[in-house]
Amino acid sequence: MADPPIVFADGAAYERFMGGWSRLAGDVFLDWVAPAPGLRWADIGCGNGASTAMLLDRCAPASVDGIDPSPAQLDYARGRLAGRPARLRQGSAMDLPFADDSFDAAIMALVLFFVPDPAKGVAEMARVVAPAGIVAAYSWDLAGGGFPIAVIQEEMRAAGMAVPMPPSADASRRETMRALWADAGLREIEQRSITVTRRFPDFDIFWTTSIQGPAMVATLEGQTPEAVEALRRRVHDRLTADATGGITISATANAVKGLKA
Ligand SMILES: C[S@@+](CC[C@H](N)C(=O)[O-])C[C@H]1O[C@@H](n2cnc3c(N)ncnc32)[C@H](O)[C@@H]1O
Repeated sequence: MADPPIVFADGAAYERFMGGWSRLAGDVFLDWVAPAPGLRWADIGCGNGASTAMLLDRCAPASVDGIDPSPAQLDYARGRLAGRPARLRQGSAMDLPFADDSFDAAIMALVLFFVPDPAKGVAEMARVVAPAGIVAAYSWDLAGGGFPIAVIQEEMRAAGMAVPMPPSADASRRETMRALWADAGLREIEQRSITVTRRFPDFDIFWTTSIQGPAMVATLEGQTPEAVEALRRRVHDRLTADATGGITISATANAVKGLKA
């Protein structure tokens, strides 16, 4: 049976759950992409604006256009980016509402594995950037255990709970990403792995932060309180607190970049 869709219906919850992770990995990603200032950027799957804000803060863009299918994410992004020079609109990576050759750089930050047909999504990014434009993405390394809450997912599976996966989880594999970029006709393809660590002041903060993701909320709602508490205890016992009770978690993403011919 297909996994239920993962619906991003709460931009604030996304911020609490993923915003911090997105910024940590996004910093490394943008350092690596190393864009010149003054580019016209497309932020595909801009979500609640976490990646869009980073482009504005770090890349001195000429313009930033973000698209995302989720009205809730876009609402949050519009609040976050109020007064800032970003245009946001609803849309899908599968059919970008932009003319050919209209950007200098297009990125998908933590998005590729949500796109129903990743090859189409990458082809669309290649279409909308001008020749020599940058097409780049990073995705949590789902198969390699790189998702920030992989430890919770492992314990869920051990307890027989379903762990919903995004529709194109395979697109987060390093070799799949390279093939997608090559098949889209992109050149000078480079890849890297991005590992980041995040410290939570204590286990409870890690737990409450980590169960706010849309897939997790939907799954845990279907469990009894006793089952959720048992899961919480098993995850607790897997993690070692530091001297002041803090919990440090690492996560790994695969990144890829290339240029339009
Ligand atoms: C993990 S969030 C990433 C958001 C943001 N880029 C960031 O770095 O925090 C994934 C986003 O992909 C969006 N998404 C899902 N399907 C999509 C599609 N077909 N095209 C574009 N975005 C999509 C979701 O609505 C969600 O906001």
